[in-house]
Amino acid sequence: RGEIRGAAEPAMACWERDWWQKRHCECTWTKAALWLAFLLLTGGLIAPFAVVKPPTATAGYAFLTRFELSPSPNSTAKPPPLQLLSYNATVHIALRNPNLYRGISYLALAAFSFNGTRFDDESSAAGVVDLYLDAQEEKTVRLEVGGVDRKLPAAGAAEFARQKEAGWFEVEVRLDAVVQYDMARKTWCPLDIICPLRLQLVDSDVAAIAFNKTKCTILRVKISGC
Ligand SMILES: *[C@@H]1O[C@H](CO)[C@@H](O)[C@H](O)[C@H]1NC(C)=O
Ligand SMILES: *[C@@H]1O[C@H](CO)[C@@H](O)[C@H](O)[C@H]1NC(C)=O
Ligand SMILES: *[C@@H]1O[C@H](CO)[C@@H](O)[C@H](O)[C@H]1NC(C)=O
Ligand SMILES: *[C@@H]1O[C@H](CO)[C@@H](O)[C@H](O)[C@H]1NC(C)=O
Repeated sequence: RGEIRGAAEPAMACWERDWWQKRHCECTWTKAALWLAFLLLTGGLIAPFAVVKPPTATAGYAFLTRFELSPSPNSTAKPPPLQLLSYNATVHIALRNPNLYRGISYLALAAFSFNGTRFDDESSAAGVVDLYLDAQEEKTVRLEVGGVDRKLPAAGAAEFARQKEAGWFEVEVRLDAVVQYDMARKTWCPLDIICPLRLQLVDSDVAAIAFNKTKCTILRVKISGC
């Protein structure tokens, strides 16, 4: 193996030397620099077409106007195994398309959970998101959900009492989506956005709401064309 490598190297160097000798013009270096600049420029222009970036998400504004727990009325067990949650929540999530040239079609279903238990109404139209993001465009999704007597397990009730004491509730908002990228394969790519939020319970006529902007986590499934 060593012999083969030894033979190949001088041949390569020879070829290179010949090539340089044939074009011993003064402007070779200028030409090379121009070519390099050209390649970098076209590379910079073409690369954004090749790369497909998922949208980013930030929860900019969110609060609760109702978040109450009451024991299940018919339950005789102590403590009752189920508690009933009544809630009204408003969450604004800004979705941004970071791609320079590529639009994104976005279809999602929102899900709200407290202490690992989903509490919003799965069949409600309030959680449906259907939008199109132009290249570099940002749009805000406004979710307003409300419901009464959603079942919460006993562990959730303990956590509820603790968080109520603390002054805010930890609610996870999840957008389970499929996205389609323009100028890519016509695949609908699964994409989940998870926003762990700390929400204040406020009166609906309150002037100021304490909420910290929260960056959401993006989970992509790496399949071909996505
Ligand atoms: C409680 O019992 C009443 C009548 O017995 C029934 O109509 C109601 O659906 C029950 N509620 C729950 C939460 O099980
Ligand atoms: C739910 O609450 C229980 C009791 O406080 C806690 O131990 C558990 O980690 C919580 N689970 C989640 C998913 O937040
Ligand atoms: C909660 O939302 C319902 C409609 O979904 C509305 O009728 C009710 O007044 C709201 N309650 C609060 C406290 O915001
Ligand atoms: C927002 O952030 C500040 C500082 O990090 C913190 O003191 C405050 O408790 C947070 N508020 C909420 C609602 O999470």
